[in-house]
Amino acid sequence: MVKEKIIMDVDTGTDDAVALVMALLGEEYELLGISAVNGNVELRCTADNSQRVVECCGKEESVKVYAGADIPLVCTLDPQSAQARYPLPIRESYGEVDNMMHGFHLPLPEAKHPYEKRSSIFWMAETLLQAGEKEISLVPTGPLTNIALLLRTVPEVIPHIKRVVLMGGGHFIANASSAAEFNIWADPEAAEILLQSGLDITFVPLDATHQALISAEEAEEIAAIGTAPAKFVSAVIKERIARYSRRDRDMAEYGAAPVHDALALCALTHPEVLKDVRECDCHVDIGRGISYGRTVFDLRERVQPEAPNCRVALGADKDFFYQWILGILKSGKEC
Ligand code: RIB
Ligand code: CA
Repeated sequence: MVKEKIIMDVDTGTDDAVALVMALLGEEYELLGISAVNGNVELRCTADNSQRVVECCGKEESVKVYAGADIPLVCTLDPQSAQARYPLPIRESYGEVDNMMHGFHLPLPEAKHPYEKRSSIFWMAETLLQAGEKEISLVPTGPLTNIALLLRTVPEVIPHIKRVVLMGGGHFIANASSAAEFNIWADPEAAEILLQSGLDITFVPLDATHQALISAEEAEEIAAIGTAPAKFVSAVIKERIARYSRRDRDMAEYGAAPVHDALALCALTHPEVLKDVRECDCHVDIGRGISYGRTVFDLRERVQPEAPNCRVALGADKDFFYQWILGILKSGKEC
């Protein structure tokens, strides 16, 4: 099997963690390294959580975690912006407010090894420049700050990037605001920089991830696999179900939760998991109004449409996704 060479840029978080386990154990992936970004929680947590996941899978000798940007490009320069207040500084959060969806540290043992201190932007640039043409795919599952900084500071990497398959955006569904999905909302300008790069971009948005929910019964089946990574994946899915049920009425009804980021990784090697895929022109609303951070996919049926700059999936095959998760975890060695 030819392995897909990938770099993941993550804001680990619970669903990023599931995606990392799949990338670390999946035979179809050669995970070259992990770049952490501020997002679900502060950078020191997203990097530390990623390191904990790598060690849970026993891959700390071969897969390193690098820290990137701990603040978005520009949106938090306005202290009155909603983004400036997210996430709460850790000192406040440890005290009163736990992060609603992700907590600050994953339910894993403390990392035995520190994550790399070298900037992930420099590591990604060096790794890509040493690679062949279109050799490495990027899988961003958090805000796109690191990716934008990479593209702006070292544009020579672009010919070495095969494609970008990202979790982000929403057409009919939003979460961070009434108009925008979190990964894009958290750094709208970064996402627009990626969209203007000319790279081959696939969006796996909320419209797709919300069609690939994992239930509590399925989480129990995952736990029964019995390995440490399987038990961890089961635990975080059950935690996600509990937290979604407290917030989202439809999720409470389903008794299930999306595992957004893992679906993006699945789509990289199994595009058949995505449904209703459209090639289109997309841009991000970077005005400072109510729709700031919204992904605007132009799906109009025009005789002469704008040249597409991405593809977006408006659906997903839940059964394929779940079997993919089971298959990788069942094949993963005990560690
Ligand atoms: O909107 C969902 C996305 O935001 C996921 O990547 C989740 O981890 C958060 O980063
Ligand atoms: Ca994420």
